[in-house]
Amino acid sequence: MRAFKTIALCAILASLSLGAAQAQAVDPKLVVIDARQSFMSLIAFYSAPLGAMDKGSMPYDAATASAAANYIAALTSLDQSGLWVEGTDRAYDESSLALPALWEPAADLNGKIAALRDTSLALQAAAGTDLATMQAALANLNGTCKACHGDYKFKPPK
Ligand code: HEC
Repeated sequence: MRAFKTIALCAILASLSLGAAQAQAVDPKLVVIDARQSFMSLIAFYSAPLGAMDKGSMPYDAATASAAANYIAALTSLDQSGLWVEGTDRAYDESSLALPALWEPAADLNGKIAALRDTSLALQAAAGTDLATMQAALANLNGTCKACHGDYKFKPPK
């Protein structure tokens, strides 16, 4: 985990010095926030067909469901240690919706990341079976999103 963070930071620093024409430093923490938001957006994007089948706005199709679940499983199986670096929260920069409490031990961040991956792998196994099996597995995956967003993602006042 730590090694990956170091490598990621080195890669960021290397790309900075390659672009050294401008002496402006890019803030590595903002790079992490941006990447984490993109990661979340990709998961949501690839989940969309499954959500539509779940609601009935798209007919269940085993091949489409399997493909979507494969992409989600691939995404959530990526090493995420570089995406959840402590100090990359909303207290650091308001562009982030991540609340600082996510990094407190009680939040069990690693457990939540593991649950996201494990329910994605279960969905991958279930998605091509039939609609009801896919729906049950999707509900479990969606539960892991809610478990993290509920307390640890900032909600703008309406
Ligand atoms: C471990 C906690 C956690 C889990 C699990 C999680 N999220 Fe998130 N999600 C966050 C946090 C924190 C943010 C805010 C990130 C930021 O702004 O720095 C976020 C932001 C998002 C965003 C907004 C991205 C943007 O561009 O601002 C979407 C969409 C999203 N999550 C979808 C999902 C979906 C779908 C799932 C489940 C399949 C999921 N998330 C699971 C914590 C989580």
